[in-house]
Amino acid sequence: MEFRRFGPTKRQVPVIGQGTWYIDNGGDPATAIAALQLGLDLGMTHIDTAEMYGAAEQIVGAAIAGRRDEVFLVSKVLPENASRKGTIAACERSLARLNTDWLDCYLLHWRGKYPLEDTFEAFEQLQLQGKILSWGVSNFDVSDLEEAWEIAGAGRLVCNQVLYHLQERAIEHAVLPWCEENGVAVVGYAPFGHGKFPGPRTHGGRVLQEIAAAHDATPRQVALRFLVRRPSLFTIPKASKPEHAAENAGAGDLRLTAAEIALIDEAFPRGPRPRELPMI
Ligand SMILES: NC(=O)c1ccc[n+]([C@@H]2O[C@H](COP(=O)([O-])OP(=O)(O)OC[C@H]3O[C@@H](n4cnc5c(N)ncnc54)[C@H](OP(=O)(O)O)[C@@H]3O)[C@@H](O)[C@H]2O)c1
Repeated sequence: MEFRRFGPTKRQVPVIGQGTWYIDNGGDPATAIAALQLGLDLGMTHIDTAEMYGAAEQIVGAAIAGRRDEVFLVSKVLPENASRKGTIAACERSLARLNTDWLDCYLLHWRGKYPLEDTFEAFEQLQLQGKILSWGVSNFDVSDLEEAWEIAGAGRLVCNQVLYHLQERAIEHAVLPWCEENGVAVVGYAPFGHGKFPGPRTHGGRVLQEIAAAHDATPRQVALRFLVRRPSLFTIPKASKPEHAAENAGAGDLRLTAAEIALIDEAFPRGPRPRELPMI
């Protein structure tokens, strides 16, 4: 598994991590826990969760029990809770559900009604108390990032978690360049399109298949690798089945050639810049 520096932090984080939205959906927490633990064994030690994800935080808590130090653990506060006091209380509830004393990174899930100043003050307070080691944002477009930078100052905001998959490359227009210029990590979510991965009979699916065959890999591994092809990028596929976690981790050491990247780029064009940053 390839690791790289996470934004301005000193932490080395795997390029392929693990998402947890709907991880409890199959009604089989034991299998979900086994999938996350196998993922950890295979180096996918960045685990992304959120207070919004129902029982996911408890499942993650069970999966990381006894191995907390291996994990780069991220959770998120819902915008409706992101007041000064509400953010602190939400973080404490997440810590209790995760059965841990700290988060490696805490994110504002998306912008809501509370001023960013209030949320960021709470983040800074949590960081002073050692309850979070860093903080960031999610679903922020460039104007939001600029405002956040203005409020917090350089180097405080460590990542922006945004929608990024082969068929949704909007971040490449402005968000990704802004983050790269300012040393902010970009964590791409829903790398498989939240369950809409290009099928083998589509043109794009065939391109992925051909590249995969040349590497003894799978189309999904090729897709994940494309999505972390720049040094600022990380991705967090969600797998509630151990065999899926194993396949995803296999992308961690794959290397694509410039020609292969160009073929994928052509098969999944990034399209024009949308008016608003898309999110799920
Ligand atoms: N910040 C935000 O606003 C935001 C929004 C959306 C998502 N996220 C984060 O990003 C994570 C990933 O996004 P997502 O869960 O929406 O979608 P995703 O990772 O694009 O897709 C998940 C789907 O892909 C399947 N899958 C995973 N690995 C597979 C494999 N190797 N072979 C076949 N199928 C496979 C999963 O199946 P199984 O579960 O059956 O294994 C699940 O159905 C989330 O879990 C969450 O942590 C953040």
